[in-house]
Formats: sequence, C-alpha cells, structure tokens
Amino acid sequence: MARGYFIAGNWKMHKTRAEAAALARELVAALADGGHKYLVAPSFTALETVAALVRGSNILLGAQNCAVEEEGAHTGEVSVLQLKDLGVQTVILGHSERRHIYKEDDGLVNRKARLALKHGLDVILCVGELLEEREAGKAEAVCRQQTVEGLKGISAAELPRVTIAYEPVWAIGTGKTATPEDADAIHAYIRKVIGELYGSAAAESIVIQYGGSVKPDNAAALMAKENIDGALVGGASLRADTFVPIARF
Ligand code: 13P
Repeated sequence: MARGYFIAGNWKMHKTRAEAAALARELVAALADGGHKYLVAPSFTALETVAALVRGSNILLGAQNCAVEEEGAHTGEVSVLQLKDLGVQTVILGHSERRHIYKEDDGLVNRKARLALKHGLDVILCVGELLEEREAGKAEAVCRQQTVEGLKGISAAELPRVTIAYEPVWAIGTGKTATPEDADAIHAYIRKVIGELYGSAAAESIVIQYGGSVKPDNAAALMAKENIDGALVGGASLRADTFVPIARF
C-alpha cells in the first residue's frame, strides 16, 4: 500500500503541562523506532511544553481546533498564526465534539480548514454520523456532506495536506468500536467521494483515519482493512501503555 499509516492522539481537555510533558517524553522514547507517522494533539495550554519535547522526534504536533479568523476581536479563540508560532504543524477540525457540543457547522469547519491550509498547517478533517443517523440509514449521506462541504474550495494541490478522520459519533468514548468491516465500508465510501471530487489518484492516496474507541486490542484488526490508514485515538492516547501498542500495532 502506498499510503502510510498515520496514528494520532487527541488528548482533548486533559492534562496539565507537567502531565503532558511526562506523556510526551514517554512517547518520544517509545516510538523513536516506530514505523508509522505519529502526532499528538495536546490542549492549547500544553502546546508549547510538548513542542519542545517532540521537536526533532518523529512525532508531529497537532492542535485540536483553531479560530476561523487570523486575528481580531474573538475572545477565547486561538488563531492559526498563534499555533504556528508554537510549532504546531497540524490542526484537527470538525471534531464531533466541536460540531455537536459547540455547534460548528460545515461552513465554519470549511473556512477554518481553508485558513489553516493557507497558512501552511496540515488538517485532519473529522467526519462521522450520529447513532440516529446510522440507524436511519444516513451514515453515508452524512459523511458525504461533511466531506464535500468540508473540502469546498480546497485545491487538488492542497489535498495532500488533508487527512480525513472517520469518527462515528456513537463510537467516541463509548467503548463501542465500529466493526472493522463497517468502518472499512464507510472509508471506502469516503474514498469514492474524494475520487468524485479530485480524481482517482487523489482518492488512492488520501489517508483516512478511523476514530472511536480504538484500543490496543482492536487496533490491528482495524488497520488490516484496505481503506483504514490509521487512527485518531482519544481515551487510549492519554497513557503511553495504551497508546504505544496502538502506535506500534
Ligand atoms: P475515543 O478514542 O476516546 O473514543 O475518542 C475518539 C476521538 O474522538 C478522537 O478524536
């Protein structure tokens, strides 16, 4: 497979700077000879601390969100320029917690993605259906819409800097992983949508991560599927003894 595996840890709203530093140190040591692409996304408050520890390692630094504007009167927001200044290389956008708790819609996610790419950051664009959408047979339609709208105005030249993360909302933090077969089917569908938008070569090369209760005991079976190119890990990314086995699946 030409696509490499990309394993990312989304630390969400966890860890003080000291806790984040301890985990970053452990991961740098444990993954130094790891064979895949790696990223950790700490809270904004720990980015500078973790940046200093992962610099020069094979672990990339991600942020969990960014503002839709470059600067200005946006109380409580953090801009791409500020993230770049801290050494952030990638930003996670459209996470289901941003979409559903903080009501971010596809238009906002798309504007953030375009801004991040414009400033040289890579993007992990998260898509995924709610349980009721899956039960109503709408999983593909939801993922299509979030993919198409999220990528609007993003050029073929920029697409290699975009990773898609399929995170079915019902699988996030619930311990209910999608079966490898169900996840692979949606990944194949998203790849087909990318093909319609950007052509077959782009569809073949785009990296599509799975997220939602990825654990050491299910990672290998998920990664074995043709269309699953990595993982976006929440809970199990918070400790080296659970993230490292996933990262070294
Ligand atoms: P969990 O691995 O805790 O289910 O979270 C997945 C996720 O939301 C990663 O972004």
